[in-house]
Amino acid sequence: MSQTPIEIVEHEGVLTITLRRAQKKNALTSLMYEAMIEAFARADADANIGALLLRGSEGIFTAGNDIGDFIACAQAPGKMAAWRFVESLATLQTPLVAAIAGPAIGIGATLILHCDLVYAAPDALFKMPFVDLGLVPEAGASLLLPQRIGMAKASEFLMLGASFDATQAHSLGLVNDILPQADLDTYAFAQAKALARKPRGALRATRRLLRGDSTALVTRIAEEGAAFVQALQSGEAQAAFSAFMARGKA
Ligand code: COA
Repeated sequence: MSQTPIEIVEHEGVLTITLRRAQKKNALTSLMYEAMIEAFARADADANIGALLLRGSEGIFTAGNDIGDFIACAQAPGKMAAWRFVESLATLQTPLVAAIAGPAIGIGATLILHCDLVYAAPDALFKMPFVDLGLVPEAGASLLLPQRIGMAKASEFLMLGASFDATQAHSLGLVNDILPQADLDTYAFAQAKALARKPRGALRATRRLLRGDSTALVTRIAEEGAAFVQALQSGEAQAAFSAFMARGKA
């Protein structure tokens, strides 16, 4: 039997989500999004859970959305699990910590904009290759990224698709600290546990205040969603997906 591609463990007030599809670079499938949506809802509803920790495995955070799933969604459009995941990220109440080692591509990079604390290994590499795939940004990145790092860098990352490493992410304020690979998970868990031990009501209220009114974000996510669904069906996207699927098969 194949291993479950996602593992969810509750320990000391922290609900840890580990992506375990390393043979496919932790590319995210509908099943994996559904499991994460469920974990977020569980954390928000369970008084015993004070923080969430999201991490990859075997030197890969995630290669982003599964491209095979993109192809399937283009053929049968509906509300993609990926989109419901993005909405649940934007409305999450529980503090979210990420531990990132290796590539963090697409949604793997944009989701850090919704995290409260982000820790990276030296080999972390962020990339938002939406335009190269004939797509548009998601997870509110078209709004949140320029707010966080300015329009110049946001354009470099979202339009040119330039990648950036842990050091750049740290100096741009997207990552809290860079830890040696061997210490990353332990440190990120300790920080999540420290959050989980704070008074819950005050912590959640502080998170809400730090993020401010979510109306503009929710509106932008819907706008990105409409543009994304249209882009998925385009010849540009179809050609990019086919090129990815055909790699190494010539
Ligand atoms: N969707 C589906 N499968 C993916 C995937 C994705 N996003 N990313 C990687 N995989 C699969 C590969 O097809 C390959 O499968 P195979 O062994 O059956 O051929 C396996 O994962 C290993 O990937 P590979 O590309 O050989 O590993 P690598 O170490 O050379 O490169 C990445 C790793 C992450 C840099 C590279 O896989 C990549 O760029 N992936 C696509 C990222 C992307 O564009 N995501 C969409 C963002 S919107």
